[in-house]
Amino acid sequence: MIISVPEAVAKLQTGGIVAIPTETVYGLAGRIDDESALKQIFTVKQRPFFDPLIVHVADIATAKRLARDWPPVFDVLTSAFWPGPLTLITRKAELVSPLITSGLETVALRWPDHPVALQILRELQIPLAAPSANLFGKTSPTSAAHVEKEFSGAVPVVDGGESEIGVESTVLAYDASTPNVLHILRPGGISRPQIERVLLENNLNFDLVRTSSAASPGHLKAHYQPNCPVIILDDKPWTEEIRKRIEADLDRPFPYVHEMKLGASAQVAARKLYGEFRQFSEVQGGLIVITRTKDNTAPEWEAVWDRIERAASFTF
Ligand code: TXA
Ligand code: MG
Repeated sequence: MIISVPEAVAKLQTGGIVAIPTETVYGLAGRIDDESALKQIFTVKQRPFFDPLIVHVADIATAKRLARDWPPVFDVLTSAFWPGPLTLITRKAELVSPLITSGLETVALRWPDHPVALQILRELQIPLAAPSANLFGKTSPTSAAHVEKEFSGAVPVVDGGESEIGVESTVLAYDASTPNVLHILRPGGISRPQIERVLLENNLNFDLVRTSSAASPGHLKAHYQPNCPVIILDDKPWTEEIRKRIEADLDRPFPYVHEMKLGASAQVAARKLYGEFRQFSEVQGGLIVITRTKDNTAPEWEAVWDRIERAASFTF
């Protein structure tokens, strides 16, 4: 069901949940101070309660109120990248519900850059907890139509057009016990080179370390799964021999092969990725084949390949 901004605000006010557009992907939002709204998010997504949610705000003062620690490097990062596709993790303030953080002492904070999300946040005047608006482990939605399909129309959604970034935010954690390290828990809409440039410009000396966290299932293998097999070809052509090996392994025929062209721009590839996963998945007996070359593996491509690798069943 498509609803308007005033309808969304009214629903959220009374403890309902609503899918809202952001510049990365659509989110399934509920107010952070309503326990039943938070529980509904997990139920509707079929998401395990041990996977924490991101809190969305519309200004830095609110983010600071939700954080117990706010290291100076966050001022630099937020002035460069907020509003935008960067989520920051730090120790949480008392008032943040353990339902949001899955009982962790830390909270994930983001100021999204989408006019509709911001209008809703400003009218509501309460931050929103919102994971991506898809079933747990599945591909994130980048349009209102994707959300409608994912939940068979059962979740009200505000249509804000196609998400411009197309992959989720970069998740970056600060931990006072390793004060000169920033942990990239999930590569995303802000690339490592972008973060490195801002740190350098501000004479900040941090190691940017890719860290996998058990607290973040979004960072585990076999996430972001479309409904048909995805195959990565490492700089080699598709052949009948490869098809035969896949068919033998999965024990069924795959007559249709979609060779997904990533193109030359990481930004454009990210924007199109999930929509094409969904579109190609609709074909019974279809396979998605993606070729990795030296032209699409520069550091700006990290988020795109992270998602493709997690979606992929085979690499040849
Ligand atoms: O772009 C995005 O980030 C989208 C839009 C809607 O804002 N949201 C999103 O949420 O991707 P979600 O829940 O699908 O992914 C959030 C990731 C999860 O993998 C979760 O485990 C991790 O962030 N996360 C949240 N809080 C955390 C915490 N305190 N410590 C470690 N990881 C955390
Ligand atoms: Mg997600």
